[in-house]
Amino acid sequence: MPASLTALELFCGIGGFAAAAEAMNVKIVGALDQSPAALAVYRLNFSEHNSRQTDLEKITAAELAGFAADLWWLSPPCQPYSVRGHGLDLADPRARSLARLLEVFPQIPEKGLPRYLALENVAGFARSRARERLVDLLVSRKYEVRERLLCPTELGVPSRRPRYYLVASCCGLAPARPVVSCPHSLGSYLDPALSENPPPELLVPTEVVTRFGEGFRLLDPADPFAYTTCFTAGYGKSLMHAGSYLRCRNGERRFAPHEIARLLGFPETFRFPEELPLRKRWHLLGNSLSVVAVRDVLEELPGVNNGRRSSSSEI
Ligand SMILES: C[S@@+](CC[C@H](N)C(=O)[O-])C[C@H]1O[C@@H](n2cnc3c(N)ncnc32)[C@H](O)[C@@H]1O
Repeated sequence: MPASLTALELFCGIGGFAAAAEAMNVKIVGALDQSPAALAVYRLNFSEHNSRQTDLEKITAAELAGFAADLWWLSPPCQPYSVRGHGLDLADPRARSLARLLEVFPQIPEKGLPRYLALENVAGFARSRARERLVDLLVSRKYEVRERLLCPTELGVPSRRPRYYLVASCCGLAPARPVVSCPHSLGSYLDPALSENPPPELLVPTEVVTRFGEGFRLLDPADPFAYTTCFTAGYGKSLMHAGSYLRCRNGERRFAPHEIARLLGFPETFRFPEELPLRKRWHLLGNSLSVVAVRDVLEELPGVNNGRRSSSSEI
């Protein structure tokens, strides 16, 4: 089947966007990120894509235009716009790569511009100076812009990850669709063998659970209404505010990386390099995105609608 769109993935990480694009017949013509560890995971899973280790702080207008992609997908670092990252916005050094893209965008000639541009970030991005500059730039280049907040729980996934999404088009957007969610229980994402017999590296010492008390988000795998809090890059390192935990036969355990990948919507075939340490897997997954939510967002682009319907909260 011919691809409906070509896409350039900026800040591709481990390939959350690539996983979403795969099911929607979007062809990736370039995937850029500076992290060797993230790219090793990306290449293991999407070996046929043109992935390149690139510092986007140094990207040029000619390089970007050279991909001749219909869509640019951006997942820039979130820390500049998050409460925990101190919300420094464009003054945060980690925002320099996005600032560079904003700087070169006006230099791209009309014929080098993508038909569509989309961006994903934490909810705090909606109130940022970076967002204001991006929207101004897009409007000045005659794009129609639509923004919304979307959480996978609205799409029936029992895992919170509220995120800001922007889609911009210079040739129209599909009409907003009605709310339809198909709820799944947390248990259906879990590996029963792990709850029955968890490996020691997933177990959390009981004294830690007791110490944190009520604040420790411990879930019962059999609870049909259970949902996880957002898994952050600190899961496996920080005990609090980095994600949820599970009761298991002989105590309490962390979620395994492949269970988190399932909750994000990665396919069952998704793999990590054998040698990649557990903590690094959690870190990379915490930086990734909800594949399910991205598919919903992609359906707003004319030509990639695959007929699904979903829910959303327009800002
Ligand atoms: C929020 S994560 C996006 C993750 C991605 N969506 C995924 O599915 O894994 C931000 C990514 O930006 C990358 N990054 C940060 N600064 C960068 C820079 N200057 N140039 C290129 N990539 C950068 C990080 O390595 C990280 O993978």
